[in-house]
Amino acid sequence: MTAPPADVPGSQTGPRHVALIMDGNGRWAQARGLPRAIGHREGVQALKRTVQAAPELGIECLTVFGFSTENWRRPAEEVSDLMGLVRSYVASDLNRLDREGVRVRVLGRRAGLPADIRAIIERAESTTATNDRFLLQVAFNYGGRADLVDAAQAWVDRVLAGEATGPLDEAALETGLSTAGAPPVDVIVRTSGERRLSNFLLWEAAYAELVYQDVLWPDYGPEALGDAVRQYRQRDRRFGAVEVEPVLAAG
Ligand code: IPE
Ligand code: IPE
Ligand code: MG
Repeated sequence: MTAPPADVPGSQTGPRHVALIMDGNGRWAQARGLPRAIGHREGVQALKRTVQAAPELGIECLTVFGFSTENWRRPAEEVSDLMGLVRSYVASDLNRLDREGVRVRVLGRRAGLPADIRAIIERAESTTATNDRFLLQVAFNYGGRADLVDAAQAWVDRVLAGEATGPLDEAALETGLSTAGAPPVDVIVRTSGERRLSNFLLWEAAYAELVYQDVLWPDYGPEALGDAVRQYRQRDRRFGAVEVEPVLAAG
């Protein structure tokens, strides 16, 4: 993995894992008098730029929020536009991602997605399964609450099958989360000025730093990601502990 460039200062190293709530596509389009679908299309270009820039900043894993379990509440036409973007992103970018050593993993519930989208997701995952230069996790039909419910259910199923015994602990629950095996989430970034998680990575957010940027997602790219990394490096992560001042030896 490339070392972080020296021009991104701060006392903290990393982040290894950046999670992004890609928000503001609709407002970007509205501000230009364009249909929301155009904002989503431009959002895919921003995603491509951002994924390409991430390894150069020393990032090992990006998790992006593409479609939430609540986004089904949007008009059917917009839902279908968002599904269409998965088709075009994979069709146009899978080969390049694979060539560049990116492993693609899709988080979220498969049931409820159109059959062709499920097939596309499975193809993206299987084509890139052995790549290890960078991990791109796309949260699609993902909700933090649904993911926790699924992890709990997976554990119950293992107990009922005699493969696990109680009591349930954090490590056992974590193995059932869709992010299991990825590095811990260091920072959650949300664009567009909104300051909430909207059901993203609820468990993983426990000790993640939160960075809010005013940029609308279609305008995102290497510069904004570099700024988020810079903000992260200036944070003091304590994980509930206190820093012990070194005691100077007398004399
Ligand atoms: C984010 O942009 C993309 C998705 C939620 C899929 P929005 O569509 O939420 O854009 P705004 O928040 O309406 O501007
Ligand atoms: C969160 O954004 C979901 C994604 C970015 C995919 P939303 O735009 O759906 O969130 P709310 O509705 O503003 O909370
Ligand atoms: Mg939004």
